[in-house]
Amino acid sequence: MSFAKHMDVPIARTSLLESEVQSVMEPLRSGWLVQGPKVREFENKWSEFTGAKHSIAVTSCTTGLHLSLAALGLQPGDEVIVPAFTWIATANVVEHLGAKVVFCDIDLETFNLDIQQLDSLVTTKTKAILPVHLFGMAADMEPINAFAKYHKLWVAEDAACGFGSRYKGQHVGTLGHTGVFSFHPRKAITTGEGGMITTQDDVLAAKLRRLRDHGAAMSDLQRHLGARPYLLADHPDAGYNQRMTDLQAALGSAQMNRAFDIIQERRRLALRYDEAFAKLAWLRTPVHRAGYEHGYQSYPCLFHPESVKPNAVFRINERRNAWMDKLQKVGISTRPATHAVHMLTFYREKYKLRPLDFPNAYAANHCSISLPLFHGMTAEEQDYVIEQVVESTI
Ligand SMILES: Cc1ncc(COP(=O)(O)O)c(C=O)c1O
Repeated sequence: MSFAKHMDVPIARTSLLESEVQSVMEPLRSGWLVQGPKVREFENKWSEFTGAKHSIAVTSCTTGLHLSLAALGLQPGDEVIVPAFTWIATANVVEHLGAKVVFCDIDLETFNLDIQQLDSLVTTKTKAILPVHLFGMAADMEPINAFAKYHKLWVAEDAACGFGSRYKGQHVGTLGHTGVFSFHPRKAITTGEGGMITTQDDVLAAKLRRLRDHGAAMSDLQRHLGARPYLLADHPDAGYNQRMTDLQAALGSAQMNRAFDIIQERRRLALRYDEAFAKLAWLRTPVHRAGYEHGYQSYPCLFHPESVKPNAVFRINERRNAWMDKLQKVGISTRPATHAVHMLTFYREKYKLRPLDFPNAYAANHCSISLPLFHGMTAEEQDYVIEQVVESTI
């Protein structure tokens, strides 16, 4: 079959309405650029959408994860269980607090924590689990929370990709002690860079608000609007500056007005791929499980799932790469879904790890592939990807 025309389809594309672009003008014109009324508005909309009691906007998901662990009280020498297949930031924040990363392998069907392995990883030093809702698929939170409760561990959800993801009816980020979302442009809602911490705990929320703002007991805006000009805030904590600006929050808040539509559109696109690729035995598309609503931050697949065994990974990896090159030549951008963190130099050397210490993370690193999926993708673009994938000879 020959294709009428060549198209360029990116892995993701930021799609903003003109009204969303214009929303940034409001803080620019008002002169209030730092964390202020727009941040509060964005946080309120986030809480309403996710059902979180508290939403706290920060500069990125990474800083939000760091802040969460700091607020929970993680200390040097503590251990934190982290999936071996995730973005490196999930592990880095543990290192930044002087604690030790303990990797856990993943389930290759979901790309999330393999809960069967938790038992073998817990020690007297374990203080927290960092489950990741990777690519918009919720981690299996019920057993994770039960395990954490039994061992008295904190659960800090990495919900970077979790916007629109629900687990047994509940939005991710509201299931653990804290949850943190990302607004990087590859996510469904973007503020350029940015993050949102969610928690149901009043005391923790107050601490998180202080820590993001130099440890101040009172925000800039409160002081600005307050009656007594001589008032200086007290600083009960040695905090950080992880405040989101009102420029970013204006953009995020404007997108929240179509949050449901964005999620619906991403689900519709994913469903079209699912149907189109259902007969391709060599490509495992994202799984559907009862009780899980996928947010489709991306569309991660596993190449030749039937043959992904440790001794075959290298060979399948070569074929996957050749296929990715082929797609690139016809204008379609793809990516490995993410990386196996235990194989990256810092962790490999620090903890003396080998690829096969976490065989599923190793396999996912080498054999996963994300196809283009983003709201604003045209039917023509998706048809083109479908045609090229279905017609591939590999
Ligand atoms: C699973 C995961 N955790 C953390 C992050 C870090 O997010 P940010 O770029 O907002 O710091 C990302 C970013 O892609 C991610 O995918």
